[in-house]
Amino acid sequence: MKFKQQPFLDAVERAMDTAIIEQTNDERLAESMRYSIHAGGKRIRPLLLAASYSLYQETIDSSVVQVAAAIELIHTYSLIHDDLPAMDNDDLRRGKPTNHKVFGEALAILAGDGLLTLAFQVLSQAPLDNERKVTCLKLLAQTAGTLGMVAGQAADIQAEGKQLPLEELQWIHARKTGELIRFAVLAGGIIGGASQEEQARLDLFARKLGLAFQIRDDLLDVLSTTEELGKTAHRDNDLQKSTYPQLLGIDEAKIELANQLREAHNILQLFAENGYQTQALAAIMDKFTL
Ligand code: IPE
Ligand code: IPE
Ligand code: MG
Ligand code: MG
Ligand code: MG
Repeated sequence: MKFKQQPFLDAVERAMDTAIIEQTNDERLAESMRYSIHAGGKRIRPLLLAASYSLYQETIDSSVVQVAAAIELIHTYSLIHDDLPAMDNDDLRRGKPTNHKVFGEALAILAGDGLLTLAFQVLSQAPLDNERKVTCLKLLAQTAGTLGMVAGQAADIQAEGKQLPLEELQWIHARKTGELIRFAVLAGGIIGGASQEEQARLDLFARKLGLAFQIRDDLLDVLSTTEELGKTAHRDNDLQKSTYPQLLGIDEAKIELANQLREAHNILQLFAENGYQTQALAAIMDKFTL
């Protein structure tokens, strides 16, 4: 690893906390936002962003911390809303009662709205040159928005109770989960100074990784316990979701996960052959296996 994960993640957490405290007057709303931010989580997206940046740069810059905070704020909002009774209706998240269970539905909705909006403010204040900042702002809006994560979530909810063709499920996974992962990887490259051609390659890499991450999430829902997951296991079956294991069977879903990761590794290898430091990205990819 070229960057130390824990100090970086501590800095990202501080950036999120500072933003919430400085920008929120309502104490209960701030408490609700901070509850979900501090509930833990693997922080995969900040780590991917920093690892992708470290293909190009030796030391983590404060701009990386700010942009990583922005993507984690958005991700956390997406989880609060995903858990709402009107969505997946979950009681447990990151090993704790879900936001709406503690603060009620109205504040949980508003905490999500707050985190989403705050993310753009944090990104707009990042110490980046204007060109990179605008590029990142646009990319965040696209990947989190109505052609990205929100589109995937809308399709996911409307597909409940249906047996989807695999291509349609892949379409949903690429958006509901893949797009924020794509932001993390691409933004790291953009801030680090990736060329257009390299950005296109990172984009392809991130798409494989994003799909892999949701296939893994689907598999874990079937294979793990609630205690291991920190969220209620076997929810996908209860909610009649189409998932990779449900459509393909567990073994085939595992093979598909391995295929996506192998293809991602092959792309990473091209960066290594061109002299870039790929150890940090490779180390984070280890977290994508079962
Ligand atoms: C869960 O994401 C929802 C998906 C997009 C699969 P994570 O597995 O990254 O959740 P945390 O942040 O670690 O809680
Ligand atoms: C959620 O997918 C994706 C987003 C939150 C955008 P899931 O509904 O499968 O995530 P979990 O399993 O509840 O974490
Ligand atoms: Mg969901
Ligand atoms: Mg869910
Ligand atoms: Mg899931």
